[in-house]
Amino acid sequence: MLNFEFKNPTKIIFGKGQIKNLSNEIPKDAKILMLYGGGSIKKNGIYEQVINALEGFQFIEFAGIPANPEYEVLLKALKIIKDENITYLLAVGGGSVIDGTKFLSSAALFSGENPWDILVNNIKTEKGMPFGTVLTIPATGSEMNSGAVITRAETQEKFGMGGPGLFPQFSILDPEVIKSLPQRQLANGITDAFTHVLEQYMTYPAQAYLQDRFSESIMQTLIEIAPRILKNPADYEAASNFMWSCTMALNGLIQKGVPTDWAVHAIGHELTALFGIDHARTLAIIAPSHYRYNLESKKDKLAQYGKRVWGINEGSTEEIAKLAISKTEEFFHSMEIKTTLSEYTTDYKGTAQKISSRFTDRGWAGLGENKNLKPSDVEKIVEMSY
Ligand code: NZQ
Ligand code: ZN
Repeated sequence: MLNFEFKNPTKIIFGKGQIKNLSNEIPKDAKILMLYGGGSIKKNGIYEQVINALEGFQFIEFAGIPANPEYEVLLKALKIIKDENITYLLAVGGGSVIDGTKFLSSAALFSGENPWDILVNNIKTEKGMPFGTVLTIPATGSEMNSGAVITRAETQEKFGMGGPGLFPQFSILDPEVIKSLPQRQLANGITDAFTHVLEQYMTYPAQAYLQDRFSESIMQTLIEIAPRILKNPADYEAASNFMWSCTMALNGLIQKGVPTDWAVHAIGHELTALFGIDHARTLAIIAPSHYRYNLESKKDKLAQYGKRVWGINEGSTEEIAKLAISKTEEFFHSMEIKTTLSEYTTDYKGTAQKISSRFTDRGWAGLGENKNLKPSDVEKIVEMSY
């Protein structure tokens, strides 16, 4: 096991009817900016619950943070934060609203001139404006981590940011919010969380027995609840297990003491930036090719996953590893998630070359757990995913 430090200060308030308790978490004298997305919360009752809980507080609303939170839109919210002397942010939404709020938390206290620098220069946020979240879609884990991903449509770029100052102070996880999610978003959530586990697990053996089993149990739980939640998102038992699995998949715990990869996400973000493909679906496109391309260095963990998660007991390490990749694809297909780029766009030719030259331009020389994947390898992986 590798050395590690672990600190996660986010308070989780989990369960039915918990949204009302947000009033206990925000300082009474706060001036709040409540941020949300395109309006789903106005159709499913979440908006009313939040507004009722905010009774007696001073607050302003900011609506319209789009999926893949857009920099230009966030700058409008930043102006309100400054003009209105906002002191506390409340995100009501999924990964996009929460990530947008994290950017604002950082930008509100940023001493530099151009907040874009936080993203393009990867500036770590040590202290941000305090914020809490009401999660409306399980998927990203953003509700209990300190990372965010922001899009700039103008230049077709999508950049990550983060730092210890960007953990939410609290997050309310009420599994009943899942009821109103469309099939597409349910499948996206399961696929994203599943791939988060893969990114922190599918590397090389690091003799971290407990972390491996944490990861395997999250994947097994997601596989178990997937058909149930897709059939009936109001199934509270499945919904609560779905929601907690997504949070646990990316709150830092399972990655402690083990090598991590994250190449699938790095490449996937480019597909969202270039084609607008949903985040989770970009991962389903890239992951199988990535694992096939890197079979040699990943086959031991792939085989362990094949045996423990998919129950494959016969064959050589390499055979089990290959079958495990096919099982993963079948799992994505079972949720109507397509796994090749050409199924999403007819305009895919040249994408591999484009992504690899973007990585070269940004100086991203070594991706993956061994930091040895060069832009030329990325090009081959993307080509394999056509
Ligand atoms: O905008 P509204 O109208 O609210 O609709 C949203 C949106 O269209 C809808 N939705 C959310 N809750 C709903 C609902 N519809 C009905 N009922 C509800 N209860 O769902 C759509 C997608 O929402 P979004 O927030 O975009 O989804 P998700 O949580 O999957 O977030 C994706 C974003 O998070 C980033 C992705 O790159 C992407 O930008 N990620 C963030 C990470 C992090 N911070 O740790 C890690 C991830 O790997 C990921 O990169
Ligand atoms: Zn993800």
